[in-house]
Amino acid sequence: MDRYCVFGNPIGHSKSPLIHRLFAEQTGQVLSYDARLAPLDDFSANAREFFAQGLGGNVTVPFKEEAYRLAAELTERARRAGAVNTLKKLADGRLLGDNTDGAGLTRDLTVNHGVTLHGARILVLGAGGAVRGILEPFLAQQPACVVIANRTASKAGQLAEEFKDLGPVRGGGFDLRDEPFDLIVNGTSASLAGELPPIDPALIRPGHTVCYDMMYGKDTTAFNRWAAEHGAARCIDGLGMLVEQAAEAFLLWRGVRPDSTPVLEALRQQLRG
Ligand SMILES: NC(=O)c1ccc[n+]([C@@H]2O[C@H](COP(=O)([O-])OP(=O)(O)OC[C@H]3O[C@@H](n4cnc5c(N)ncnc54)[C@H](OP(=O)(O)O)[C@@H]3O)[C@@H](O)[C@H]2O)c1
Repeated sequence: MDRYCVFGNPIGHSKSPLIHRLFAEQTGQVLSYDARLAPLDDFSANAREFFAQGLGGNVTVPFKEEAYRLAAELTERARRAGAVNTLKKLADGRLLGDNTDGAGLTRDLTVNHGVTLHGARILVLGAGGAVRGILEPFLAQQPACVVIANRTASKAGQLAEEFKDLGPVRGGGFDLRDEPFDLIVNGTSASLAGELPPIDPALIRPGHTVCYDMMYGKDTTAFNRWAAEHGAARCIDGLGMLVEQAAEAFLLWRGVRPDSTPVLEALRQQLRG
């Protein structure tokens, strides 16, 4: 049996085994996919042991940077992100590192929700690992501009500097005085604590701006509640991003793109319990 897994610590909460089992059933691929609790101080040895037989793995918190260092080869988007969430064993046994998070978010926005990124004014909140992963795929869509705003303004500035060769991107703090944006993506972990990035609600144009929180949960996230209160045209959570980044990994491993729609519906139902 072809073996795949997700590495993380903790890992019990991971929805990846369910997602990939549903993808495999749907596409008639015969494989196993398990959750693997890697020790915090020894991810590399754990991964090497798995890849003696295994063919591919997803990598989640806190091992994405270590996976980046472990990979012998990197896709351009993983190199840009500085983090790897997908490993694939190549024919010669070496590991290819990819990062499918940004492609997953872009696909969820453009394909599942019909949002046009080309020519759009985009505000991205946060400057952590997730945001680093989405900048290359976003800039590839040729938006009018990407503004990164972060609690630690210098991190947003630094990130913009690193990606400015790919398109119009600038960074700073939350004290923005811009025109309203077409799309606002919350990539901070503030929602985890039920908190909000302190941005001016005037950055939302009522009935027009689309707001996207990378976080998801049983209930509407704090950011999406705030966005709806201020008239956002649509408020979308990150469950679609989760399923689409998995679909992108499945495509890399198996050469088949699964249909994410029924899987997203199954997950949404499970989440609502
Ligand atoms: N849906 C998906 O598939 C998916 C995939 C990846 C990530 N995510 C979600 O994306 C979010 C970010 O993940 P990450 O890996 O980028 O985390 P990270 O690397 O730890 O970065 C966290 C970011 O949030 C900011 N932040 C934290 N608490 C804040 C607060 N109370 N107010 C304002 N800003 C705050 C940090 O600002 P400072 O720099 O100032 O500390 C930093 O920019 C998480 O909610 C995660 O669950 C979702």
